[in-house]
Amino acid sequence: MAKFYITTPLYYLNGNPHIGHASATIAADVISRWHRMRGDDVFFVTGSDEHGEKNQKAAEQLKKDPQAYVDGLVETWKKAWGSLDISYDDFIRTSEKRHEAAVPDFLARLKKAGDIYKGFYEGWYCVHDETFITDTQLRDGKCPECGRAVTRVKEESYFFKLGRYQDLLLGLYAKNPSFLSPSYRADEVKNRVRGGLKDLSITRPSLVWGIPFPGDSKHTVYVWVEALLGYMTVLGWPGKGRFGEFWPADVHLVGKEINWFHTVIWPAMLMSADIPIPRKVFAHGWWTVDGKKMSKSVGNVIDPIKISKAYGVDAFRYFLIREKPLGEDGDFSEAALKARINGELVADLGNLVYRVLSLAERFDGNIEGTPELDKHLDIKRIDALMLELDLFGALNEIWAFVREANRYVNEKEPWKLQGDALGNVLYNLLEACRVISIMIGPFMPSTSAKMRSQLGVGQGYLKDCRFGKFDGKPKKGSYLFTKIEN
Ligand code: MSP
Repeated sequence: MAKFYITTPLYYLNGNPHIGHASATIAADVISRWHRMRGDDVFFVTGSDEHGEKNQKAAEQLKKDPQAYVDGLVETWKKAWGSLDISYDDFIRTSEKRHEAAVPDFLARLKKAGDIYKGFYEGWYCVHDETFITDTQLRDGKCPECGRAVTRVKEESYFFKLGRYQDLLLGLYAKNPSFLSPSYRADEVKNRVRGGLKDLSITRPSLVWGIPFPGDSKHTVYVWVEALLGYMTVLGWPGKGRFGEFWPADVHLVGKEINWFHTVIWPAMLMSADIPIPRKVFAHGWWTVDGKKMSKSVGNVIDPIKISKAYGVDAFRYFLIREKPLGEDGDFSEAALKARINGELVADLGNLVYRVLSLAERFDGNIEGTPELDKHLDIKRIDALMLELDLFGALNEIWAFVREANRYVNEKEPWKLQGDALGNVLYNLLEACRVISIMIGPFMPSTSAKMRSQLGVGQGYLKDCRFGKFDGKPKKGSYLFTKIEN
C-alpha cells in the first residue's frame, strides 16, 4: 500500500477560521480522500500554531491567559473542520506536550551541525505575519506582505546559519523541480535564494508565550521555527514509529505568502538536522471577496460555517474547487456560488440523477447492455490530474462527463424507448451515475453517499470507475440539490 502524507498549514488561533483557511483545508481533504480511494495509506494532518506574539496579543486583548485562550478557540476550529467534513487523521497543537518536548531535540541537531550562534538582531518585525523584515524589504515603511505597521526590534538573538544553505537549496530545486509547485511560483523563490540568504534569527527574548530556548531560557524559540516542526512531531518524532512510516511528507499545502518558510527555511533546517526533505510544497492562491481583499477592517470576512449552513457543505466545497485553479487567486461571491449551484449542481448533476432514477424505477426489464457512454470517460487522465494536484482540472473533466451523460439522455430520448433498447440506455446511464458517485466522493462526500443510496450501490474505489455489470437496486429519492431562488 502506498503511503501518502499531506499537511495543511498549522493555523494561528487569533480568530475564527475564514474561507481562506477553509478552502486550503478542504483542498487537502479532497486530495486525501482521493488517495484513500486509490487504496493508499493516507495520513492527513491539520492543526494549530498556538505560540508567538500574535496569539499572545489576541489573548491579552480578551484579558485571557494565552493557554486558556487557545484551549477555547481550538475547539471552534475543530468543530468547524468537523462540520465541513474534513477527514483529518490527526490535529497537532503546538502547545501540546508531544510537540513542545520534541523541539529541543531538533535544535540540538542544528547546534551539533554547528549551525546555531548567538548574535544581535536589528531590524523590523511584523507581528501579524510573525516575520523578521529588513530595511530594504519594507514597503512604504510597512510590512511588504500584509501592509501593516511593523515594530523596530533591537535584540540579542540566536541565529540559524541559513546563509550556508544557499547552494544546497538551489541543488534541491534543480534535482526535484516539483518541490516548488506550481512551477510558476518557483522562479520567485529561486531568484531570491540566488540573491543570497541572511542568517535567520530563531529566538525572541522577552516573549513569554512560547517554548523556552534550550540552554538559555531568557529566550523563546521563534514561533515559525517550532511551528514547522509540528509536521514531524505529529508523527511522534523523534520516535521512529509513525515518523518512519510517513516521513518525508508528500505534500505541504500552504498559502503563497508562506511559501518562503516552507521552501527555504524548512528544507534548510531539515538539511542541517539531517532529516529527509518533503517531496512537494504546493502554494495555493488567495481568495478575494466581491473583488476586494478580505479583511476585518473592510468587514468582508466570510465565515465558512455560515455560508455552508446557508448553501450546503457540499455545494460550498464544490464551489471552492470548481471556481479557480488551486494555485491561482480567485474571487468569492454569493452570486457566483448561487450560479454554480443552480447551473451545475441542480441543472447538471441533480437533474441527471433524478431523470435516470425516475426512468429506472418505472422500468421492469433487464438493466443490461453494451457500454457506450464510457468512451467519454478518461479516468486515467482524471487520476493523473489529481496526482498533480490539479483538482480544478480533474473536476472539470468529471463535470464534462456529467454533461455528456445528460446529452446522452437527450439524444437517446429513453422515454420513447422500451424493452432491451431502454434497458441498454438505462444500463449506460446507471453505470455513468455510479461512476460519477465515486469520482465526486472526495469533493462532495455526502452527495456521493446520497447518490449511492439512491442507486442502491455500495462504496466504490477508483478501480471501480469503469463500466461493468450494473448490480445496484435503484430507487428514486429526493433531489440531490435544490435551486436557490433569488
Ligand atoms: N501559522 C502560520 C502557518 C504555520 S505552518 C507551520 C500561518 N497561519 S495563518 O493562520 O495565518 O494561516 C494562514 C493560511 O491561510 C495561509 O496558508 C494563507 O495563505 C491562508 N490564507 C489567509 N488568507 C487567505 C485568503 N484570503 N485566501 C486563501 N488563503 C488565505 O500562516
